[in-house]
Amino acid sequence: METGSRLAALPLLLSLLSLCVCAFSPKQIVPLLYEEQLLWVSGFEGEVNTYRIPLLSFTPKGSLLAFSEARKMSDHDLGQKFIAMRRSTDKGKGATWSPTSFIIDDGAQIDGLNLGSVVVDEELGLVIVVYVLCFNHYHCSPSSTMMVESVDDGLSWSQPRNLSVQLGVKSFCPGPGFGIQKRYNPAKGRLVVCGHGTLEGNGVFCILSDDHGQNWYNGAALKSIPYNQKKRAQDFSPDECQPVELTDGSIVVNVRNQNNYHCRCRMVVRSFDGGLTLPIDSLFFDYELVDPAVAAGALLKDDVLYFTNPSNEQHRVNLTLRWSLTDGNSWEKKAMQIWAGPSGYSSITSLDSGSADDKRYIFVIYEKGYKSYEETISFAKIHLFSGR
Ligand SMILES: *[C@@H]1O[C@H](CO)[C@@H](O)[C@H](O)[C@H]1NC(C)=O
Ligand SMILES: *[C@@H]1O[C@H](CO)[C@@H](O)[C@H](O)[C@H]1NC(C)=O
Repeated sequence: METGSRLAALPLLLSLLSLCVCAFSPKQIVPLLYEEQLLWVSGFEGEVNTYRIPLLSFTPKGSLLAFSEARKMSDHDLGQKFIAMRRSTDKGKGATWSPTSFIIDDGAQIDGLNLGSVVVDEELGLVIVVYVLCFNHYHCSPSSTMMVESVDDGLSWSQPRNLSVQLGVKSFCPGPGFGIQKRYNPAKGRLVVCGHGTLEGNGVFCILSDDHGQNWYNGAALKSIPYNQKKRAQDFSPDECQPVELTDGSIVVNVRNQNNYHCRCRMVVRSFDGGLTLPIDSLFFDYELVDPAVAAGALLKDDVLYFTNPSNEQHRVNLTLRWSLTDGNSWEKKAMQIWAGPSGYSSITSLDSGSADDKRYIFVIYEKGYKSYEETISFAKIHLFSGR
């Protein structure tokens, strides 16, 4: 009798289960722009000429932090800057981002700061921002890799620490994008921040910390050819990059192909040892990800790999979201155009509390404009399952 009634309930139970799974099946991704807000508008606020290089991160407490370079005098990569930050405690709703605070001021340096990477240590609840001073050695020397951290969800920030004391003074510009804390072995818990060198000394370089950012050391180096020499068109010059950890514990790094070596598309390289090496055997060119040579966004969420860039071989226009159900080995035919016009650097994040709401959204920050992508920095909240 009892067994019978249990069996009778089984089909119902199974169909309920499959409903739950179906609600967020990667096969049903139909992204919709749910809400968008301009976080920074260039030329508007007194002290800042141009906002560029947007970074976006979740925090351990479920807030969102947006960062950018606030370029004081001009739109140039050189020049003095602030690091600007805004914070959202309600999943990026329009009106409730905190006002801009400048968490770092590089003073009046000619070759000032450049962003940068934001990395969350979930084990200790830290948010770390890594940036560079004097990257180009323009009327200054040496180049310094710097770090600040927040232990209170981005409300306050530590004094800057000079990581070049441990790493050496090589010109290293982190990201732009996010660094990762390894969630899987090998090297679970390790902080991995990847970035690039100057045009001559270019390449993808990763710095690593196995003690929550106390001590840092140099990991993988995938160097340009010819290294430390002037490049020509179509030379091999891996540049700005975004690392993503896959669930097998390897790290896929999606890389800007600075000189269009082999294709006008993204390079992809993979580390199997937690960022110590990026073997050339693992490098491939992703012909589907056409790219005008730019910093792009990537994120793995619930077994789906997302990617954003201005999807055009020549120009920074057509910011597009793509997704892969095969860890980037292939891309779904559907893609979502986020902005047809001028669009530049982008970065993606999401919240991961396990709640149904958090599973529905990803967040994209990107450079957006009508005439030039330097006009604004925009935050887009994207609903992944709008088609249901
Ligand atoms: C950082 O440390 C390096 C190595 O000790 C040093 O040469 C450089 O001047 C320091 N940079 C700053 C900004 O203090
Ligand atoms: C925008 O991107 C999509 C997807 O890659 C592509 O099919 C389309 O041709 C692009 N449009 C422009 C104007 O670049």
